[in-house]
Amino acid sequence: SAPKPLAGKKVVVTSGPTHEPIDPVRYIANRSSGKQGHAIAQALSNAGADVTLVSGPVALPDPAGVKVVRIETARDMLAAVQNALPADIAICAAAVADWRTADEAGQKLKKDGSGVIPDLKLSENPDILATISQAGASRPGLVIGFAAETEKVTEHARAKRARKGCDWILANDVAPDTGTFGGDQNEICLISGDDAKSDEHWSRQSKTGIAEALCARIIKHFS
Ligand code: PMT
Repeated sequence: SAPKPLAGKKVVVTSGPTHEPIDPVRYIANRSSGKQGHAIAQALSNAGADVTLVSGPVALPDPAGVKVVRIETARDMLAAVQNALPADIAICAAAVADWRTADEAGQKLKKDGSGVIPDLKLSENPDILATISQAGASRPGLVIGFAAETEKVTEHARAKRARKGCDWILANDVAPDTGTFGGDQNEICLISGDDAKSDEHWSRQSKTGIAEALCARIIKHFS
């Protein structure tokens, strides 16, 4: 049979939410299901790539033929991604928590009836996409991020691409009525330059379809 188009390419994909503990029983999280990131890992593996999927807590089966590393927090996700380098391609589809609690409580915070409400202090998590985009010699040749926006989607996504230093950014609208977080469908604007003229639009379709479109675009990039 013909050689697969991404044979020999090493890829790291992030997917799902992160969980940031507040105390032993509570955490900060978000609505990401992992469907988009897992579909991307599966599509790239089907095309012959050697894929490591670094996933937050999700209810999905592991994609076939993919090495899956399960983590909970943003800090663990960064360490697992760095551990998977060097790679030819990195794709950050995870919805990483931007903040974690500054001090994780060792014991369950008690509601003791006094009406005192815990004053949770936050600190900033590492930015995985920005860190690997600016990783010097260990930077993957093609770094791809997502931008989850609820307004001015392409404008904010273009600024995010420049700020984080990735090559491509896939802008998706995550306003509540779109169902993008957690749902089965997505719609993408691929931004690969400062000028809107190079933007590519992928109409609303299944997340599997979006994953296959991205895979085809990557194959075209390397050919
Ligand atoms: O998981 P699903 O339910 O299928 O939903 C898919 C999705 C909506 C989660 C996905 O398509 C998506 O948009 N993922 C990125 C979500 C996000 O947190 O976007 P952001 O605009 O906040 O972050 C921009 C980029 O930086 C992303 O590539 C993100 O992975 C990355 N990032 C953000 C913060 C951080 N601390 N580290 C990061 O790597």
